[in-house]
Amino acid sequence: MNHQFNLEVNGIVYPLDIDPGRNLLSVLRGEVGLTGTKEGCDDCECGACMVLIDGQPVNSCSYLAAQAEGCSVTTIEGIVDGDRLSDIQSTLLDAGGVQCGFCTPGMIVSAKALFSTNPDPTPDEIRIGLSGNLCRCTGYTRILKAMERTARP
Ligand code: FES
Ligand code: FES
Repeated sequence: MNHQFNLEVNGIVYPLDIDPGRNLLSVLRGEVGLTGTKEGCDDCECGACMVLIDGQPVNSCSYLAAQAEGCSVTTIEGIVDGDRLSDIQSTLLDAGGVQCGFCTPGMIVSAKALFSTNPDPTPDEIRIGLSGNLCRCTGYTRILKAMERTARP
């Protein structure tokens, strides 16, 4: 039997009628239509599917959509500065920290969570904050440099 509930994503409420076993990732990409959140491993390993739930980073592939009822979900589409890129996004682009881009949404979501609680993280704290996000292209150096530059422009 389906579960009917409202899901708040990036400040918009979406009425849903879904199988209660569906994960948040598939509902965000399917029913909600926000495809910035990526599916990598589908096994809680890569961080490509990272979103914020009430400000906390969560792998949406391993989180039931119904568990997010009553919570505020933020996806990569919600991490902007008005109609401009956020500082994290523009610095990452400028630093060459985006190659294929598949890991980028999850990286930015994790960075957003980090900077929200610690606006001036040390390089080690940045590494720990992004440790749940895998990147197969960049070797991480440019991503980490971009985050250091975001912390200390
Ligand atoms: S797709 Fe969710 S952690 Fe990899
Ligand atoms: S830029 Fe390709 S996986 Fe990170």
